[in-house]
Amino acid sequence: MYLFGRKLTRGRFEDGGVLYSYEQFSFQLRRIKVEKQFKYMPHIRTEIIAVNPVHPEPTAIERAAKLLRDGEVVVFPTETVYGLGAAAFQTAALERIFVAKGRPFNDPLIVHIAGEHELELLTTAIPEHAQRLAQVFWPGPLTLILPRGPRVPSLVTAGLETVAIRMPRHPVALALIRALGSPVAAPSANRFMHVSPTTAQHALADLAGRVPLILDGGPCQIGVESTVLDLCSEVPTILRPGGISLEALRSVLPHVQLPIQHKVPGRGEDVQAKKAPGQLLTHYAPTIPLLLFDGTDEAMRASMLAEMQRRSAQGERVGVLVADADVPVFQGTGSIIQTLGNAADPAEVAAALFAGLRALEEARVQVILCRNFGDRGLGLAIRDRLLKAAGGKIFGQD
Ligand code: TXA
Ligand code: MG
Repeated sequence: MYLFGRKLTRGRFEDGGVLYSYEQFSFQLRRIKVEKQFKYMPHIRTEIIAVNPVHPEPTAIERAAKLLRDGEVVVFPTETVYGLGAAAFQTAALERIFVAKGRPFNDPLIVHIAGEHELELLTTAIPEHAQRLAQVFWPGPLTLILPRGPRVPSLVTAGLETVAIRMPRHPVALALIRALGSPVAAPSANRFMHVSPTTAQHALADLAGRVPLILDGGPCQIGVESTVLDLCSEVPTILRPGGISLEALRSVLPHVQLPIQHKVPGRGEDVQAKKAPGQLLTHYAPTIPLLLFDGTDEAMRASMLAEMQRRSAQGERVGVLVADADVPVFQGTGSIIQTLGNAADPAEVAAALFAGLRALEEARVQVILCRNFGDRGLGLAIRDRLLKAAGGKIFGQD
């Protein structure tokens, strides 16, 4: 076994990870460096600039693009959630993303493009069905997993041989990528393990003092992240349900399949973990426990109310995450009520979901009781995020 410039065939790192190559080793070294930087990151001034979400002001966009060119990171709105962007081909800039978020290196980033010509920079093959999907859903909330091109830094892909690519449809995001003149790698602009930000204020709450600039384009329209679709597996597979529904995808590719759903850590999660290292079950965990309820409206309300009263009696401060129609059930019970709108309209619920979770956090509740919103359309993405926040458990099931 050789190190430093020589081939390292196989070894073991102190945290138990197995090393297969020299690249993996330098990857681990960089990870340690980033973890240190996260801890001791000097406080920087965070500026917020309001931008018109439909016709972004060129001066604001140019400011942000210059920062990206200079190797800095910038928070910008997309139609799904706010992103924390860096120039995709600048390794030092990419490191700053991980430092600012406290994100582990084994969680790959999505590369954002503004035109299909940029695909050639990023991937070696654009299969026919990728082109069809791009034609229908781009620009929009669909991320395609394609074979990684040789120029894509391993920090972007977490060492995988695939790369995640999406063309956002938010005018501010598109203007920024165009002004930079090359692709922008961006995860959601939240601290690692926190819910994604759907307003500039959410991003500020998580990243103040850690990023130089936030472009404030108002609340995000969709409110859940993009759908991540793996086109490198035998059957196109959804790795993360999101802003483009399963139904919509199947109207173009009828054989799209769902992921192996919501496995409990330690019980055979390996298949999913290898394919999508970032899809940790607790990825969207709010800082407080969340209990997800299921059943008919009546049954769900009754068991939520009973659980709420039981916990209140023990002196717990309970938050309930519900739909408009549930509100009367909880009014006057002493619970903190957060409604996500009309349960029959998943798009409305999705747009309100992350802000609702954050509002309950801010209200300092000790537990969140949450109703089920179904799984049709964007409901699948909502359910995925809620299940993750609930640690994969549904209340009432074992
Ligand atoms: O809507 C969105 O997708 C937002 C906005 C900013 O575009 N971005 C976002 O990024 O949600 P992030 O980093 O929070 O989530 C990206 C997800 C991660 O769960 C990651 O594991 C997965 O995409 N991913 C990235 N590259 C991948 C790859 N090569 N193979 C499998 N999964 C990948
Ligand atoms: Mg994220």
